[in-house]
Amino acid sequence: MSVVPRSGNGKITVPELLQRKSSGADFPNNSQKITCLTAYDYPTARLLDDAGVDVLLVGDSLGMVVLGYESTLPVSIDEMLHHTRAVRRGTRRAFVVSDMPYGTYHAETADSVRNAVRFVKEAGAEAVKVEGGERRLELIVKLTEAEIPVMGHVGLTPQSVNALGGYKVQGKTVDAAEQLIRDARAVEAAGAFAVVLEAVPRELAAQITRELRIPTIGIGAGPDCDGQVLVIHDILGLTFGATPKFARRYANVGETISKAAREFCEDVRGGAFPSDAESYHGVQRVTEQKEAPVNSDGDW
Ligand code: KIV
Repeated sequence: MSVVPRSGNGKITVPELLQRKSSGADFPNNSQKITCLTAYDYPTARLLDDAGVDVLLVGDSLGMVVLGYESTLPVSIDEMLHHTRAVRRGTRRAFVVSDMPYGTYHAETADSVRNAVRFVKEAGAEAVKVEGGERRLELIVKLTEAEIPVMGHVGLTPQSVNALGGYKVQGKTVDAAEQLIRDARAVEAAGAFAVVLEAVPRELAAQITRELRIPTIGIGAGPDCDGQVLVIHDILGLTFGATPKFARRYANVGETISKAAREFCEDVRGGAFPSDAESYHGVQRVTEQKEAPVNSDGDW
């Protein structure tokens, strides 16, 4: 199912993503911007892969948009592995990154590395994402030493929601902006191949993008990052409640699903579904036969 990451066959790889780093201060080449969307299942992965999305992120946002948790904190490693496997099976060209969920990289470094290895070995992830800047330096070094490409994530880190006091824009004061720059630099110095900047003022994200050699992938961080990531359910209109202002909606799939389900109910209750054409037929009436024919149409 997976495509061998040989250069030249279109498969997105770490070197390919590093090459997409904007070369100039004016961010001249939009065509090479990195596109990243979250995916949590096989059909979505196939559709996004076919549409040319470069990076599929099995985000721990899974917990909120698919599993119905109130935050990302309860998401378990088994849930992440399960959904990563499904995405892996649906992906040929895109680069698959999996979020390490809360609690799987916060204790001993050796345990964290073992957990990260599971994403690669058992689920087919090509990289893992960890939240946090300077305080993840040692971990990112160890993961890259273990041949696991790491995507960093600084700014608003949803796994820190309790410490941050909510989902708020980060880096708004001079001190906070300087800390964010230190965090992004630390992630790069530790060996990460890219870093997500979440909910960061546009100007600060632009400065970090200029300063780093690795690509920045923005979410609520303005247009000057080297790439953009959004949660697929946000762009499809498949969430409940308010969506953040940076999440542009490209479709209203929620409404499409509701409409289809309402029509199905109406058809069943009104006797319009199933029709004769949607039914199977036996050769004779069952009561006239000694043995009832099983699926005598022979196919679906
Ligand atoms: O979990 C997630 O979906 C993420 C993205 C929002 C970057 O971390």
